[in-house]
Amino acid sequence: MQKPWGGRYQKDTNEQVEQFTESLSVDRRLYRQDIRASLAHAEMLARRRLITEVELAEISGALKEIEGEIEEGTFEFSVALEDVHMNLEAALIERVGDAGRKLHTARSRNDQVACDVRLWVRWQIDAMDGLLRECQLALVEKAERQGQAMMPGYTHMQHAQPVLLGHALLAYVEMLHRDRERLDDCRRRANVSPLGACALAGTGLPADPESVARELGFERCFTNSIDAVSDRDFAVEFVFDLSMIAMHLSRLAEEWIIWSSHEFDFLDLDESFCTGSSIMPQKKNPDVLELMRGRCGRVYGDLVALLTMLKGLPLAYNRDMQEDKKSLFDAADTVGDALSIAAEMIRTAEFKEQRLADACELGHMDATALADFLVKQGIPFREAHQIVGRAVLQAAADGARLEDLSPQQLKSFSELLTEDAYRALGPQNCIESYRSHGSSSPGELEKQLNRWRSELSG
Ligand code: ARG
Repeated sequence: MQKPWGGRYQKDTNEQVEQFTESLSVDRRLYRQDIRASLAHAEMLARRRLITEVELAEISGALKEIEGEIEEGTFEFSVALEDVHMNLEAALIERVGDAGRKLHTARSRNDQVACDVRLWVRWQIDAMDGLLRECQLALVEKAERQGQAMMPGYTHMQHAQPVLLGHALLAYVEMLHRDRERLDDCRRRANVSPLGACALAGTGLPADPESVARELGFERCFTNSIDAVSDRDFAVEFVFDLSMIAMHLSRLAEEWIIWSSHEFDFLDLDESFCTGSSIMPQKKNPDVLELMRGRCGRVYGDLVALLTMLKGLPLAYNRDMQEDKKSLFDAADTVGDALSIAAEMIRTAEFKEQRLADACELGHMDATALADFLVKQGIPFREAHQIVGRAVLQAAADGARLEDLSPQQLKSFSELLTEDAYRALGPQNCIESYRSHGSSSPGELEKQLNRWRSELSG
């Protein structure tokens, strides 16, 4: 097959080289972005009289026709044409001849592919934002329905202080909110048009990159043509943002896997989100969560692959950069899939409120509240810590809770531990005693819920 660059070649490309260098198998999914950018480019060429209005009409008509065929699955791609860009151009030339041959005026595949990828990333960012919002809504709904339940709060995986389930669920809503902010920030840097940089140096033809940038909805046009074709940091940044999302999902997954074990038994995952065992008839496994956790590693791998691919590249375009799409698409697909299943899985899971409440009776989680009781009476905190520590030691030896200690026993640790002290004890009293900003009290939870309700509405 005659290559578009065939002029200076006397031999055909080695067949293995065709297979080795092709990117069509990966980048064909960029066809929409490629066609959209080509339409904007052709319009600019017509405005600048580099093609006629008739040629513009021919190009636009054929490109739309080609897009329709790709969508129907009737378009025939050829690997010999390397990538999606040359496949579309060849099809255009086949249909409209010279008008098609003029489309690549004042354009290179280098600025073309950079433009397609930027359009794709921008579109994906918007999609991810919607998926993240869905997960936030699912968590907020869960917090509204079951959020008043008390549960053990953990540090080091040991019982620490009682908290409200809603408070714990909203912690993830905060993480996902920052993920959305990061994506929004990344979008600003991705939303810059590289089209018009051509191969690397710009062009001697009277092109108008700024109008193309506006036409494609970019916030601005590149300022340095060499940078425009060699920059992929926007893609790295996007994959970093995806890695952070994957990490957040993986933490939630890990926690929920533990919570749904028999040892904890805090959480009942909906059957439709579980799978079974081929040998053990009783099994109900949290595979969705495990894959969410497991695939996080793939996304980190994509990030490292991208960073490593770029680190040794001299300016400007190098073919190494073709590999960016594999990592980029894989990371976006992986995180997109995980996010879209997460929302429904969260919605359908049921917390076992009685189990959560029972667990709050273990581990002397009210010890800090008892120390605070002493502090309110003027005891220095360090001393209060020692006093309560001795009370915990006694209760643990008796296999009892702090509130099971008799008034005499309490008094033996400090004169100030009067009968009033009982009002500081027990998980319910602890939770009601929380006062501070953003704490796990019912009032603060209500404030947080109100904030998220209005933040996520509309
Ligand atoms: N398929 C190539 C890529 O993805 C398109 C750019 C090719 N440019 C070149 N000078 N060979 O990067």
